[in-house]
Amino acid sequence: MLAAVKGLLGHEALYVALQRAVGADRLRYRCLDELGLRDGDTVIDVGCGPAYYFGRLPRVRYVGFDTSPRYVAHARKRFGRPGAEFRCEIFGAEHLAELPPANAVLLLGLLHHLPDDASRHLLGVAARALAPGGRVISVDPTFHPGQHPISRWMSANDRGAHVREPERFAALAGESFAEVDGEVIDRLTRVPSSHWLMRMTAPRPGAELSAAAQAASGSA
Ligand SMILES: C[S@@+](CC[C@H](N)C(=O)[O-])C[C@H]1O[C@@H](n2cnc3c(N)ncnc32)[C@H](O)[C@@H]1O
Repeated sequence: MLAAVKGLLGHEALYVALQRAVGADRLRYRCLDELGLRDGDTVIDVGCGPAYYFGRLPRVRYVGFDTSPRYVAHARKRFGRPGAEFRCEIFGAEHLAELPPANAVLLLGLLHHLPDDASRHLLGVAARALAPGGRVISVDPTFHPGQHPISRWMSANDRGAHVREPERFAALAGESFAEVDGEVIDRLTRVPSSHWLMRMTAPRPGAELSAAAQAASGSA
C-alpha cells in the first residue's frame, strides 16, 4: 500500500498536490526567500523535479537538473523560457565549464535520495559551481531526538532511502564547505514533520574531488 502511494508520487501533478497539502511547499519558499536572490542572478537547481516553486524566484538565469523525464517535461512546459532551462541530466563536473558561476545552488529534497558517496560528489561539484559569495541550500527530512512520532514516521517512510540526522548531513557538507550551518524545522508544515535546512558557503579548495578521486590522486 505504502509502496503504491510512493509510486504515485512519480506523477508530477500528484507530487505537487501532496507537497502543497502537507505544507512542504512552505519549506521550499523559506529556502528561496532566505537566499535573497535578485534579477539576473544565476541559480542551479539540482533535483528540481516539477519545480513548482519556480514562480517564487525573481527573473534569474535558471538551470534545473532532474533524472525524471516526466518531472522535467512538466517543468519545461510550465516554466521554460529564455534563461530558464530544465535538463534531464545528472549535474556533474562536466557542466561547470558551460554554466556561469552560480549565486545559488538549490538542493531541495535531494540529498536524502542520495547515498553518501553520491552526496559527497554532488556537494563537491556544487561547491565548485558557486560564484564568489554564492551559497548552496538544502532541505531534507531528518531524524532528531524528541521528534513527534508522526514526524518520525514521515521521515522513516519517505521515498528517499537516505534520511539522516542533521550531524550526518552537516558532516558530508563540511567536506566541501568551510562554513556550514542549519536548523531543524518542525513547525512549518501542516502535518508533523522534521526537516534539516542547511546552508553551505565558503567552498574548500579541491572540493570537487570525491574521496575516491583524492585517494587515487594521492591528495587525500
Ligand atoms: C523530493 S524530489 C524534490 C523535487 C523538488 N526539488 C522539490 O523540492 O519539490 C527529489 C528529486 O530528485 C530527483 N533526483 C533523484 N536523484 C537525482 C540525481 N542524481 N540527480 C538529479 N535529480 C535527482 C528526483 O527525480 C526527484 O525529482
